[in-house]
Amino acid sequence: MIEILNPAEISHARTSGALVANILHTVKTRATVGTNLLEIDQWAKEMILDAGATSCYVDYAPSFGSGPFGHYICTSVNDAVLHGLPHDYALVDGDLVTVDLALLTGGIAADSALSFIVGKPRHADDIAMIATTEQALQAGIDAAGPGVRIGDISFAMGSVLHDAGYLINTDFGGHGIGSTMHQDPHVSNIGRPGRGYTLRPGLMLALEPWIMADTDELITDADGWTLRSATGCRTAHSEHTIAITEDGAEILTQRPE
Ligand code: MF3
Ligand code: CO
Repeated sequence: MIEILNPAEISHARTSGALVANILHTVKTRATVGTNLLEIDQWAKEMILDAGATSCYVDYAPSFGSGPFGHYICTSVNDAVLHGLPHDYALVDGDLVTVDLALLTGGIAADSALSFIVGKPRHADDIAMIATTEQALQAGIDAAGPGVRIGDISFAMGSVLHDAGYLINTDFGGHGIGSTMHQDPHVSNIGRPGRGYTLRPGLMLALEPWIMADTDELITDADGWTLRSATGCRTAHSEHTIAITEDGAEILTQRPE
């Protein structure tokens, strides 16, 4: 299903997006050497519930996971890249952390993710890899607007990832979002210009370029959720929710810098 949202719904999406952005920013600022992933989950839970918002994750039980997720935020460390299930692990100096969060207010969802390094970077390449996903995300946002095709956005993101020398996995990508977190259209991180669904004002999309340093193959952790690079290499992911407007796109999950 593809949803076109009305202005009142987009206004709820702004509220959801601002809360998501605030929580992710708080996690990035507060997480330090010794922080446990379960503490990060607790911070997210408290901030979501205190704001009167609803988690998109805690009861989520999609085919690509094992049972309800049971947590409030995805925490993916180093070789983990997507759907990282929070568990009893204390961050160490140089860990590359990805946090991914989606929630609803007023019945409308927003979804965003970011990667950051705890303490002193352990690998110089980590910083470049994170920057590449951020640049790809920005290229996708810059390409978005009414009349643009999904393939144009996918092509814009994929070109940045590819030109930086990364392989691109197409098993997971971005998606439409609205009254639920995951909707059509799918937004692959590889695409062909001029192909696919034509964007209209009121459509909301979550764009989410992600990469692994030396592979495009994933393996699923024994926890049934966490997706890791098949080679054990490090990984990065950046995601924003945007709304297509009359003349471009509005970022709904913009973070303070
Ligand atoms: N928010 C993720 C995405 O970017 C989906 C996480 S699903 C979960 O689409 F169940 F793992 F939380
Ligand atoms: Co998403």
